[in-house]
Amino acid sequence: MELSKRVLEMQESPVRKLVPIATRVKKQGKKVFHLNIGQPDIETPKVFMEAINNYDSKVINYSFSQGEPKLINSIRAYFKRDGIIFDEDEVLITNGGSEALTFTTIAICDPGDEILVPEPFYTNYNGFTGGVNVNIKPITTLAQDGFHLPSKSEIIKLITPKTKAILFSNPGNPTGTILRLDEMEMIAEIAKEFDLFIISDEVYRGFAFDGLKGISMGSIKGVEDRTIIIESVSKRYSACGARIGSIQSKNKKLIKNILKLCQARLCVATLEQVGAAELYKLDDEYTAMIKDEYQKRRDIVYSTLQKIPGIVCEKPSGAFYLVAKLPVEDAEEFVIWMLEEFDVDGETVMLSPAEGFYATEGLGKDEVRIAYVLNTDAMIRAMYILEKGLEKYNS
Ligand SMILES: Cc1ncc(COP(=O)(O)O)c(C=O)c1O
Repeated sequence: MELSKRVLEMQESPVRKLVPIATRVKKQGKKVFHLNIGQPDIETPKVFMEAINNYDSKVINYSFSQGEPKLINSIRAYFKRDGIIFDEDEVLITNGGSEALTFTTIAICDPGDEILVPEPFYTNYNGFTGGVNVNIKPITTLAQDGFHLPSKSEIIKLITPKTKAILFSNPGNPTGTILRLDEMEMIAEIAKEFDLFIISDEVYRGFAFDGLKGISMGSIKGVEDRTIIIESVSKRYSACGARIGSIQSKNKKLIKNILKLCQARLCVATLEQVGAAELYKLDDEYTAMIKDEYQKRRDIVYSTLQKIPGIVCEKPSGAFYLVAKLPVEDAEEFVIWMLEEFDVDGETVMLSPAEGFYATEGLGKDEVRIAYVLNTDAMIRAMYILEKGLEKYNS
């Protein structure tokens, strides 16, 4: 029996691939600081569980395929705070941002079509697209430019008759880069000129530091019918396991057609939707608290990296990741060495080799992604261990 080429050609998640090594060394008694995965340690707001505990029904029924009206209205109110208006039939609830991205890809692309994505990018974009035979065409961005976009003419060169959309995460995973308004307007111009969809993955919106405000693509005028916003409670509300995401678009025809995919999978978990409806009601005070905490962590990581000779890294402005070029030839080898061969008093650090975040072969070989998802004391300790590890590795 043969498996499909489609699944055989999919890459293993580079974020999870080294986990068995970490599990083994932990069993041997080593403590590992996990800076390799975007699992925040912040407590999920209590309103989530309270709403679920108060759910009064003897049967957990299927929810609507489109999603629970309460949650849809909560999300609409959340966008309205920024002046972005979505009608009830312009929002679909999904199993995380992941399903939102998969359904969007299926709805706008046929097999063989292409989606432009600035690289390095969230590696699971490969899974959402490759799984349905859609190809990612990378727009290369560089560490020394703070991973901002190249010029319009560079991007246009990559467009072919098969190009259907531009997809990006803003704030960016893995780079932490926040797109400037002029970059967003350039994307809008390109999309209009070449009749493309814009898939704006905003699961990190709100994580914007140094006084910056992460702007939603939903506020860019003139592209409302081609803009698709991907949302999730995973990161902003520290509720990764709730698996609640959503798709927002003013393009009613698109939403109506994605609804067919929602109907085929019946619905999203009812209780988690009930909890998530309360999360979207949390006010700006909550967002400010989260942002301050992550900014402190970002500062610890960035100031340590600045002290280490040979590291190239621009200060990231958002999300909770950064990509740094290390003074090593092969970052994956270094990450494995840190796990297997190195410790400070029985403790070590796990990072993600960044190569898997690139589609262009050979790029990112000497880079790592650092997720600053641990509390400030743990981050200080983890960065000390990384500094000592690099010193020893290169000695
Ligand atoms: C940029 C980006 N988009 C989407 C997702 C998917 O999130 P979820 O499916 O947990 O909502 C993630 C998760 O790490 C992410 O980093």
